[in-house]
Amino acid sequence: MLPRYLISPSFCQKVHKYCDCIVIGSGIAGLSTAMRLAKNNNIKVLTKSSLSDSTTWYAQGGIAAAIKKPDFWKNHYQDTIAAGQGLCDRKAVKILVKTAPKMIEDLIEIGTNFDISEGEISLTTEGGHSYPRILHAGGDATGEELEKKLVSHSKSLKQINFLPEHFVLDILVYKNKCTGVLGMDINTNKIEIHPASNIVIASGGIGQIYNLSTNPPISTGDGIAMAYRAGTSITDIEFVQFHPTVFKTKDSKLFLISEALRGEGAYLRDCHGTRFMVGRHPRAELAPRDIVVKEMIRVMDKCSSNYIYLDATHIPESHLKIRFPNIISKLRENSLNLKKDLIKVSPAEHYLNGGIKTDYKGKTNIEGLYCCGEAAATGAHGANRLASNSLMEGLVYGWKIYKDIEKKLKQKNTGYENKTIEGVNKLLDEAKIKKSKAGKINDHKPDIKTLISDLKNIMTGKVGILRDAQSLKEAGEFVNFHINSGYLYNKKDKNMLEFANMLTVASLIIKAASLREESRGTHQRNDFPKKDNKNWEKHIILKQNKVYFKDI
Ligand code: SIN
Repeated sequence: MLPRYLISPSFCQKVHKYCDCIVIGSGIAGLSTAMRLAKNNNIKVLTKSSLSDSTTWYAQGGIAAAIKKPDFWKNHYQDTIAAGQGLCDRKAVKILVKTAPKMIEDLIEIGTNFDISEGEISLTTEGGHSYPRILHAGGDATGEELEKKLVSHSKSLKQINFLPEHFVLDILVYKNKCTGVLGMDINTNKIEIHPASNIVIASGGIGQIYNLSTNPPISTGDGIAMAYRAGTSITDIEFVQFHPTVFKTKDSKLFLISEALRGEGAYLRDCHGTRFMVGRHPRAELAPRDIVVKEMIRVMDKCSSNYIYLDATHIPESHLKIRFPNIISKLRENSLNLKKDLIKVSPAEHYLNGGIKTDYKGKTNIEGLYCCGEAAATGAHGANRLASNSLMEGLVYGWKIYKDIEKKLKQKNTGYENKTIEGVNKLLDEAKIKKSKAGKINDHKPDIKTLISDLKNIMTGKVGILRDAQSLKEAGEFVNFHINSGYLYNKKDKNMLEFANMLTVASLIIKAASLREESRGTHQRNDFPKKDNKNWEKHIILKQNKVYFKDI
């Protein structure tokens, strides 16, 4: 049984000063929310690693917004709904696509340099888009440009207190209101409480539970796991998106090859050199990525290989050089030439479509607790996210959260601090009473590297692109055994704490994937290979060991 806290609050060694809002995570969702709120409020940004170490940094292709006629928001809306395979929340999508152009203006205002061609912002296309509407920067380094500008702008704001290398372990909740976070300073191993009446989880994805992922090492699902322990609803978590074109470097590291390369005309070829997407989907290589990945699995199986080829040799070299300088340089390091060579690529975990359920203002079911970015399930992605909608979704819902918190704090500025501190003190009193149960800090040191590698192998083999009842059952047995074994908790060890969160997220994915007996978007069951609209046009919601179903 999952305990309420990774480390009991009774081990708290320091209670910090109150602040108006804590943001957990420093990617595009977290930093953009923090910088907007910082105009009138005291904000803390807590992040497990350094400030710019986030998934945002690695985003290559770009950010989607219908900014140029004849494209307009309705086309972007329709493409997003089509990619989501019947499970998008239409209102959430409308908010996303209609707000997108304003978000681009805001990014330009803080100095973001989008690529320009003939005096206009240059737009490309990617899988599932009916018009070129992807803005990019530095050719194929969009995330890096955005993250750099967001970090430098946020750092210039006095009202933000940055706490890098602070691992948030749990959300503190008193009478269904959040009162702060319990965290560990990674440098000192001190357990600390940071009181706040508003908390924004923007901690990113879950890629590290799989062997192959485009996510950075920090993506261990911490935000989703802590939100689940705190009592929030988790939804659509069975929908894990795999990116079709990931390259393995000489030293076995993964490097994303942006979908924008296919947007600029690159082909996918099987072991015989055939363009296998032609005839399989009207948009061929630019079909939504769940469809491309499914075809890749079929083709790789037929060819008995674990890769297919990406072919950009027919694209003019001058164009490749302008658009893909990073990809060219990474391939060169690996003795490959994008203009001359076919590049071996295979799918890797890329993005979690579901997560912490929020409403249209980014609110969870706990008062004062918000979520945006990859950790959130706003309803905008459904069963498969449209390419380049993720950075935009983080911005749009971060902005909605800012508006809600700002309005609230303006209305009753004074009452919040006292109530929050009172809640923290009550929780600490309760924790002290329960201290005998919490026991001591646990010194048992299992072989954490092996455990993490076992989890990754099991999730990849049994809960990856394809699943079935038997594989899910086997994965569930492993995960539940470790969750219930008790050795994971009350440990001041970053790897152990991350492992506990990874197991929690894995157990939620397995649970939801076992329940959804159909194949839709990024959830593909070998034993239920068809979409079943009659029974499954609904969301699975997991909350405090209970399951709920919600019709769309
Ligand atoms: C890519 O550049 O292919 C990734 C874009 C995305 O995941 O939206």
